[in-house]
Order: sequence, then C-alpha cells, then structure tokens
Amino acid sequence: MSIEDLETIAQKMVAPGKGIIAIDESTTTIARRFKAVGIENTEENRRAYRELLLTTPGLSEHISGAILYDETIRQSTKDGVPFTELMKKNGIIPGIKVDKGPVALAGFPGDVITEGLDGLRERLQEYARLGAQFAKWRAVINISDDNPSSSAIEANAHALARYAALCQEAGIVPMVEPEVIMDGNHSIEVSYEVHEAVLRSLFNALYEQNVMLEGTILKASMVIAGTTAAEPSEASEVAEATVHVLKATVPASLPGIVFLSGGQKDEQATANLNEMNKLGPHPWPLSFSYGRAMQQAALDLWSKDLKGNVAEAQKIVAARAKENGLAALGQWKG
Ligand code: 13P
Repeated sequence: MSIEDLETIAQKMVAPGKGIIAIDESTTTIARRFKAVGIENTEENRRAYRELLLTTPGLSEHISGAILYDETIRQSTKDGVPFTELMKKNGIIPGIKVDKGPVALAGFPGDVITEGLDGLRERLQEYARLGAQFAKWRAVINISDDNPSSSAIEANAHALARYAALCQEAGIVPMVEPEVIMDGNHSIEVSYEVHEAVLRSLFNALYEQNVMLEGTILKASMVIAGTTAAEPSEASEVAEATVHVLKATVPASLPGIVFLSGGQKDEQATANLNEMNKLGPHPWPLSFSYGRAMQQAALDLWSKDLKGNVAEAQKIVAARAKENGLAALGQWKG
C-alpha cells in the first residue's frame, strides 16, 4: 500500500461532518461499563451490544469508522455476517485497538507506559487480513503534583511512534492517541502545559521514526481543567486553549484530528467540539472519536431490556452521531 492509499483512508476518516465511534473497550473495560448498568459481561452480551451499535440505521451518515477490539473484529451478527463485512457494506471503515494497555512505568511513581510493541508487526498483518484499515494506540498521561515526568512523556511518545511506523508498514493508518487524563484538581493552564509537552514530544518522535504524517490521524484529548478543579472550564475556554495548543504543535500536513471524550458529559463533549469548529477554519478537520460520549445514553437504555430496547437504543446512537457530526462542522445548535 502506498502513502496515497493511507492518505485516502485518513481523509475519509475525517470527511466533513463525520467522525469515529470508539467501541474498542477491552473485555475488562466493557465489564466495568456493563457492571455500572447491571449487564452480565458474557461474550454473547458483548457481541449483541456491538451488533446493536454497528447495525444502527443510518450510522454512516455521520460516522466514518469504528474502532473495534480484538474479540469484536472476529465476531459476526447473529445472522452470521462478520462485523467487518457489514461495516464495509455500510461504508464504515473498520479500525482496531492494538495496544495492550498501560502499566506502571518503573522508576516513576504515578506515570504509566503503554505496552504492546512485541509481536505487533505480526498482529497488524493479521488485522489487515481481517479488514482493519486503521489502528489505535492509546498512551496515558496522568497529571498530579509530580506527574507526568519528562521521561514518561518521552517513553510514551517513542512507543506511539514505533507503533505508527509498524502500522504504515502494514498498510494501516495509525491513529495516535496520547490521552492526557482529566482526573485531578489541576487548572486548565496546567492541562495546556502538559498537552504542549506531550504533543511536541509526540511529533518529534514521529519524525524520528520516519512516520508519514499525511497517512496519520491524531486522537487528542481536550485542554480542560481537571474533574475536581476549583474552576470547571467553559466550552469557550476549552475551545480556545485546545485549538491554540494544536496550532502550536501539530503540523498542517496531518489529515485530521479527532477527540476522545475522556469522561466528559455527552453534551459537554459535543459543545466543546462545536466551539472549536466555530473558531475555524483550522489547518485540519477537527472531529470526534468518542467512546462514552457516543454510547453511554444508549447503553443505559439497552440495559433495561436487552431484547426489547434495541431499536430505541439505536435511535439514541444515531442522534448522538448526528449531534457530534454537526459539532464537527460547528453547526450544532444545542
Ligand atoms: P472515550 O471517548 O470514552 O474517552 O473513549 C475514547 C477512546 O477510545 C479512549 O481510548
């Protein structure tokens, strides 16, 4: 696959008014989400839930792609159609989460490093055969009085760049995700400083590892005060600070930036994205790759009746896709 092919996929991922639905929760993470609403974490419930999301009528109007988990990319609808086939038929690009999650970074209490590089070349080749056209790797950056260390920022940037280079070798678009975690009482100014250091280090590492930015997507967190901060951030502040840090650190040759929701309330995630796009035009499309902010309301409703509430839950998914699609254009009215 050529760089032009990777570029074409990346551009489709951030087509105007479209974003990504992240349904790549690991079995442990989906267990937490299911437990919170009283759903048993069985393989069949996980499959049925992902089928509900992927068969939402009209999903592709505002969704360009979906990130799957290792188990999900091998699953099928109850009628036996592989999810990846169904997605391609419906114009949804299959993506796959390929990192193996964060572990404590030795020597740096409170910092973590994402694992999963060993054997990644072979895993990517398999995922490409299974139909994946893009892949996600999430680095986790914690903020506290002592975190993050510059060593943690650099170690995570290096791993992201190594993974991104392997993706492009396999003909897969890397979606590089350095998530600055919202937990904590830090101010929006501290969030800005950490984002600036993380993004600078990331793009430096991508350059060092010969990653072609034209075939890469950034999945970013928003610059925002911590969840227990004395002063919560307004949408206008988040938008200004986030756009500012991105313009200061992200080259214009990148095809697009999508945001994670990171635990923000559904409406807040939509409003923040909308405000950013109202400040445009920007050098890149700014869209969404939300997990919780796309799914939470639908999961709540589905949990009340797993057989009976499928169609109603799908309506919520479609509505959230539409709202976020409008926000990706700066046209959401609230
Ligand atoms: P949230 O939008 O729930 O943060 O999830 C997006 C994601 O993929 C995090 O890795």
